[in-house]
Amino acid sequence: MKLKIRLARAEDKKEILSVIGSHSFKWDKNIAKRYYDDYFSSKKDMCLKGDEVFVGEENGTIVGVIGYSLDRYETRNYWLGWFYVRGDSTKKGYGSELLKNIERRLRKEKVRKLFVDTSSHYFYKQALKFYIDNGFTVETVIKDYYGEGEDQIILSKMI
Ligand SMILES: CC(C)(COP(=O)(O)OP(=O)(O)OC[C@H]1O[C@@H](n2cnc3c(N)ncnc32)[C@H](O)[C@@H]1OP(=O)(O)O)[C@@H](O)C(=O)NCCC(=O)NCCS
Repeated sequence: MKLKIRLARAEDKKEILSVIGSHSFKWDKNIAKRYYDDYFSSKKDMCLKGDEVFVGEENGTIVGVIGYSLDRYETRNYWLGWFYVRGDSTKKGYGSELLKNIERRLRKEKVRKLFVDTSSHYFYKQALKFYIDNGFTVETVIKDYYGEGEDQIILSKMI
C-alpha cells in the first residue's frame, strides 16, 4: 500500500512518539520528545526554522515519520533526522517511500547532498543497512561519540 505523506502537525506529536516508542530503544522517544516540543512550539526557535517533519499515514494511522534539519547559519547543508517506521510496519517499503519523498522535496530546492548520522550500536544495524542500500556512503566515524564503544557514523548521499 502507498503511504499518504504530509507535513506533520502539532496534534500528531503523540502518535509520532508512539511510532518511535514502538522500537526497543526507549531512550530515543525521550530525546525525540524534546525535539518535537521545540519543533511544534508556537515560539519555534530560529535555529529550527529550516526544519521540516513529515508523517506517512496508512488508512489514517501514522506508521512512519521522517524529517530534515537545515544547517542554516553556515553550510546550508541538510541532515536527515528522526526517521522511524512503526515496528510492526517495517519491511513493507515505507522507509524507502519516506526517504524518496524527502529527496524529491530537497532536489526541488536544489539541494545537492543529504547527510545523516547514526550510531554503531547494534540496535541501529537495520538503519545503517537501510542507508547503505539506499545509496548513502559512510563519510566518517567519530569514535565513542555517544559513550565508550558507541561511535557516531556520518553518511551522505548525492541526491
Ligand atoms: C530504518 C527504517 C526506517 C527502515 O524502514 P522500513 O520501512 O523497514 O524500510 P523498507 O521497508 O523500505 O526497507 C527495509 C527492508 O524491507 C524490504 N522490503 C521492502 N518492501 C518489501 C516488501 N513489500 N516485502 C518484503 N520486503 C520488503 C527492503 O528490501 C529492505 O530489505 P533488507 O533489509 O533485506 O535490505 C526502519 O528499520 C526503522 O524504523 N528502524 C528503527 C529506527 C531507526 O533506527 N531509525 C534511524 C535512526 S538513525
